[in-house]
Amino acid sequence: MNAIVVLGAQWGDEGKGKIVDILSCDCDVVARFQGGANAGHTVIVKDEKYILHLIPSGILHDKVTCVIGNGVVLDPIAFFEEIEFLNGLNIDTDGRIFILPNTQIIMPYHRLIDNLSEHKDQKIGTTGRGIGPAYTDKSARLGIQAIDFFDEEILRFKVANSIKQKNVLLKNYYEQESINFDSAICEAMDLAERIKPYVLKDSLFVNNAIAQGRRVLIEGAQGALLDVDHGNYPFVTSSNPTIGGALTGLGISPKAIGETIAIVKSYATRVGEGPFPTEQKNEIGEQLRKIGSEFGATTGRPRRCGWLDLVSLRYSTQINGYDSIAITKLDVLSEFSELKICTSYKLNGIVLDYFPIDYKTLEKVEPVYSVLPGWKLNVRGISNYDELPIEAKKYLSFIEEFLNVPIRIVSTGSERSETIFVNDN
Ligand code: GDP
Ligand code: IMO
Ligand code: MG
Repeated sequence: MNAIVVLGAQWGDEGKGKIVDILSCDCDVVARFQGGANAGHTVIVKDEKYILHLIPSGILHDKVTCVIGNGVVLDPIAFFEEIEFLNGLNIDTDGRIFILPNTQIIMPYHRLIDNLSEHKDQKIGTTGRGIGPAYTDKSARLGIQAIDFFDEEILRFKVANSIKQKNVLLKNYYEQESINFDSAICEAMDLAERIKPYVLKDSLFVNNAIAQGRRVLIEGAQGALLDVDHGNYPFVTSSNPTIGGALTGLGISPKAIGETIAIVKSYATRVGEGPFPTEQKNEIGEQLRKIGSEFGATTGRPRRCGWLDLVSLRYSTQINGYDSIAITKLDVLSEFSELKICTSYKLNGIVLDYFPIDYKTLEKVEPVYSVLPGWKLNVRGISNYDELPIEAKKYLSFIEEFLNVPIRIVSTGSERSETIFVNDN
C-alpha cells in the first residue's frame, strides 16, 4: 500500500483541510511534511469549525495517528494551543500525535525577527509565524531540532549560538533590544519538558509505516506556487510544498508514493504580496471574496480573488506530476452568469508559452481568457456528478482537458457530505 500525497496546487487555501479530512477516514497515519503554523486548514464537521495550523487534518478521525515531519518548523506554543483547542472540543489527542526527532523548532525569537523584518525589507506579507527565520536557522545549521530537547547541554549551546547571531541583527539592523539568554533558555527548558512525550526517537516512522502496509496520507500545507524554489521568489514561503518536499520532509522514497492529488480551488486566491495575473480588483473579486468567505484562516486577512489560472496550474502540474485533481468550492461560482478561465498570458502583445518564474515578468503579463457560460443554479451540497448542471460539467471538463489530469473529487460545500466522488457515479 503506497502513500497518497495531497498538495495545494495554487497559492494555498485551496481547501486541503476539507479534502484531507474526508480521505482520512480510510487512513491509519496522516503526516505533515513542511510549513508550520502559517497554515490554516479548515474542517467543518456538523456545526463545528476546526482550524488546524500544525496538527494534521486527520486528527478528527479517532483511529488516525498524526505525524509532524522533519520538514516542518514546529512552534511548540502554537502546538499546545492547538491541542488545548482540540481537547476543548472533545477531540482526544492522547497518544495520537508524534513529532519526528529531526523536526525544527520555532522559538519565540523567530517570530520576533519575522515581524520585525516585514517592516524593513521588501514586504512579503508573511503570516508572522516565524517561518522564514526558522528555516533560515535550519539552513545555517543554527536550528534547534526536537531531539535537542532531551539534552540540556546541547539545548543551551544551540540557543546561545542562535541568539548570538540574532542579537547582532537586532542591534545593527533593527535597532532593537537584544534577546536575553537566561529568559530564552528558561522558555526552551519549559517547552522541552512539555514537548518530549510527543517526540519520537525514530526518524523513519512514516517510512516504516508505509513499508508495513499502513495506509498513509501525506498532507501538504501552502501551495505549489508559494514554493521557495518554484514560486515567484521572494513572494513565496520558505519551504517546498511541492512533491519533492514530501520526500525530504518525511524521509520516504519516491517509490513509496502511490498517488499525488492536486487540490485546486475552482477560482484563484492569494494572501500577502506577489504577482497574481488573474486578480480581479473589482466587483467580481469582491463577489468571490464574499460568497467564498475568502478571509485568511490564520491571520484573518482578506484574500485577493480572481479567475482560475490554467497557465499557472499547468506549471504546477508539470513540477508535481499530479495523478488526479480534487476541485473545491464549485458552489461559489453558482451565481455568475459567465466564467473566465485564463489559458495563456501575453507579454507586450506576444503570447508566452510558459509560466514566467521571474516575478517582475509575471507582474507584467496580461491574462488571455476563455469565457464559459455560468450555470446560475445553486450547486451547493450536490454529491452526485450526474446532478451537476451541464455548464458546470463543461467547466470541469475544460480544466481536465487543459491539464490532462482527471478530476476525481468535486467539493460543493465545506461539509463532509457536500462532496462528489466522480468515479463512484
Ligand atoms: P486550506 O488551507 O487549503 O485547508 O484551505 P482553508 O481552510 O484556508 O480555506 C478553505 C475554505 O473554504 C475553508 O473555510 C473551508 O471550510 C472552505 N471550503 C472548502 N471546500 C469548500 C467548498 O467546496 N465550498 C465552500 N463554499 N467552501 C469550502
Ligand atoms: P495554507 O496551508 C495561503 C503566504 C503568506 C505570504 C507568504 C509567506 O493554509 O494553504 P510565511 O508566513 O509562510 O513566511 O508567508 O506565504 N502563506 C499562505 N498563503 N495559505 C497558506 O497556508 C499560507 N502560508 C503562507 O500570506 O504571502
Ligand atoms: Mg488555509
